[in-house]
Amino acid sequence: MLTHQSQIHARGRQALLHEPAGGDPDKLTLVKALGSLVWDEAGKEYIDCTAQAWSNNLGANDPRVIEAAIEQTRQITHARPTFHTPVLLELAELMVSIAPRGLDRVGFTLHGSMAVEMALKLAMRNRPDAQHIAILHDAYHGRSLTTMAASWPHPGNVFGVLQPRFLRLPRPDLYRPRANLTSAEDTDLSLQLIRDILAKGTEGPVAALIYEPIQGNGGHNVFSTRWHRGIREICDEHGIMLIIDEVQTGLGRTGRMWASDYYGIDPDVLVFGKGVGGGFPLAGVLAKRRYAKFLAGDDQLTFGQFPIALAAGLAAVRAIIADDLCARAAENGKYATQRLLEMQQRHPLIGDVRSPGLMVSIELVRDRISKEPATTESHRVFELAQERGVIFGESRYGGLGNLIKIKPPLDISREHLATALDVLDEVLTIVEGEGQERFHDH
Ligand SMILES: Cc1ncc(COP(=O)(O)O)c(C=O)c1O
Repeated sequence: MLTHQSQIHARGRQALLHEPAGGDPDKLTLVKALGSLVWDEAGKEYIDCTAQAWSNNLGANDPRVIEAAIEQTRQITHARPTFHTPVLLELAELMVSIAPRGLDRVGFTLHGSMAVEMALKLAMRNRPDAQHIAILHDAYHGRSLTTMAASWPHPGNVFGVLQPRFLRLPRPDLYRPRANLTSAEDTDLSLQLIRDILAKGTEGPVAALIYEPIQGNGGHNVFSTRWHRGIREICDEHGIMLIIDEVQTGLGRTGRMWASDYYGIDPDVLVFGKGVGGGFPLAGVLAKRRYAKFLAGDDQLTFGQFPIALAAGLAAVRAIIADDLCARAAENGKYATQRLLEMQQRHPLIGDVRSPGLMVSIELVRDRISKEPATTESHRVFELAQERGVIFGESRYGGLGNLIKIKPPLDISREHLATALDVLDEVLTIVEGEGQERFHDH
């Protein structure tokens, strides 16, 4: 017998525009979150290794953030961008103080996608003669019309007619370097190809090159310091604005405040989002002072400087600093990575273990030599872990699908992290056993 409330929920599921017809039976309805834990409507508890789209760098519902948001709600909830609010100015001052050196201007908005668009607009405002903006293969920069076009190709894209065209540049692959090359050679070749494209493959100047210091949604693709240095040199040679998209890597995730600090990158513009809001929608752009500011009307959104999100962000960033979450991410990441490397000795499915910090993933493969992606096996690992009360991230989109992502809040307790990894160990054994059975059946 369905209760009245569950009947309403069932009708709500049918009504949602973003659900497949009839609703996704796998989708949990979350009712509560605290730290690294979430609870579904049946009261079942889960360890959340996704930090809700890698956004709760500070554990969910931190009382400092909640109190700051409530207090702000009592004062003023909304001020249009033609006015300042105290939280806007205080967070501006704080963000500039923690930014990589030289980034001393900041703008705010509510979503990572809109922050990326802000950065692209800043590039165009500053180089109006340029006709191109460059991105990397396998990039992910969001889901607005523009940032979607700046991401890896969308299967069956129906939006193309209204999307800008980006200059798509090759990238090295440290796990699957181009045929017969070492990963260092693949990096050098990619840099050389980019130089060739900029010299002979484009018409007119390039305003900006945007990339993620670690590609997140495109497959947890890590780059070497050599690559980051090479890209900076290329941008300098061509007068290209270098935009680093740290929506996913920023605010302590890598064990440093920014991946730019971790890899020694010198961005001209840095995009932040996700973890900055402490669970509230907040994102923005940091930029070098030498760039012209936006003119009135260039980038004003009604809720772009939303005081409640800014107050939550101010409290979250202060807490990230006070609790030294960068150090926590580094320690927890080291522990997780060591355990995963140890599991890799026993589990043939684990092809590769990736970090740094608490930006951790494993790539599952059917064979360590051919590196054939173990896509169905990965989804099975995800499902079995969820049954056992651990939610891992998975990459389901665009032909990917063989990554298991372990990116919980940076302050996850060692006990919860250990439990999550124990469950992973257990379900990998089960899935490998199922593979053996399938093998013998044939
Ligand atoms: C690197 C990167 N940039 C931009 C975005 C878009 O952020 P949002 O979903 O808040 O618009 C994401 C989201 O996953 C991201 O990972």
